[in-house]
Amino acid sequence: MPLVNTLEMVRTARRGGYAVPAINIVDDLSLRTAIAAAQQVGSPLIVQTSVKTVKSMGADILSYIAHAAARQVDVPIALHLDHCPDRAVISEAIAKGWSSVLFDASDRSLEQARRETAEVCREAHAQGVTVESEIENIVGAEDGVGGDALTHAYSVETLVQVAQETGTDLMAPQLGTAHGLYRAEPKLLVERVGRILEIADIPVVLHGGTGLSPEDFRAFIAAGVSKINISTALKLAYMTACQAHLAKAEATGKWEPVKMFDDVAEACAQVVGENARMFGSVGRAA
Ligand code: 13P
Repeated sequence: MPLVNTLEMVRTARRGGYAVPAINIVDDLSLRTAIAAAQQVGSPLIVQTSVKTVKSMGADILSYIAHAAARQVDVPIALHLDHCPDRAVISEAIAKGWSSVLFDASDRSLEQARRETAEVCREAHAQGVTVESEIENIVGAEDGVGGDALTHAYSVETLVQVAQETGTDLMAPQLGTAHGLYRAEPKLLVERVGRILEIADIPVVLHGGTGLSPEDFRAFIAAGVSKINISTALKLAYMTACQAHLAKAEATGKWEPVKMFDDVAEACAQVVGENARMFGSVGRAA
């Protein structure tokens, strides 16, 4: 089917008591594999692209492949631009058929973040594109965007007020998680989700999904999270499948790229299936 509206997909998940897996792909192989895996388990899926991936593949080709791959399956697929502080790339994604964008204004002052998020929302909404916004910074770099220090943190009331004033569709607050692998046990802020949803009906996104436990996900989903981002797990699965295949090729003297793609595809598909099961989205692609 054609790509779907991200906000509607996420709202449906919230009503159904599950979260949509939002998986960062890195190339056309992982993109096609993730969509095929969603079809196999009957899950809706948000295919996410970092700015780095957009620049590496080119927006036209990436968009073309995502639209074509989504049309080949009958589960809902959305195409999302992950953490993007660059307004030019945001405009390009809106113009080139992305379903949603994350305008990452967490490097701006509160006033500037408020003003620019409102501008992005106006621009995106005119094209039917959903806007996720981040004004507090979620720690850990995601494909080169962000850093390890917590530089902006606000009260729940401020976050909600800015989201409502700007027309934000999905909120990405700091929930105690971090991008990348956890070096220490995270202090999760599950109660923040409930406090946000008590005062505003704006879907809440959980970042930094790699490394959290099934119980952590259950607690966040029970609190109301309806989109969960996974990036590092897919990168690790992709690279370790390459590494294992190359070691095998060296040992056997058989150098066949397409066979390596098959191993990579299987590893990426497992990441999508495992997370969809943990998020309760399997079989929910009505
Ligand atoms: P991880 O890399 O920790 O899975 O985080 C993904 C993410 O939040 C992408 O925005």
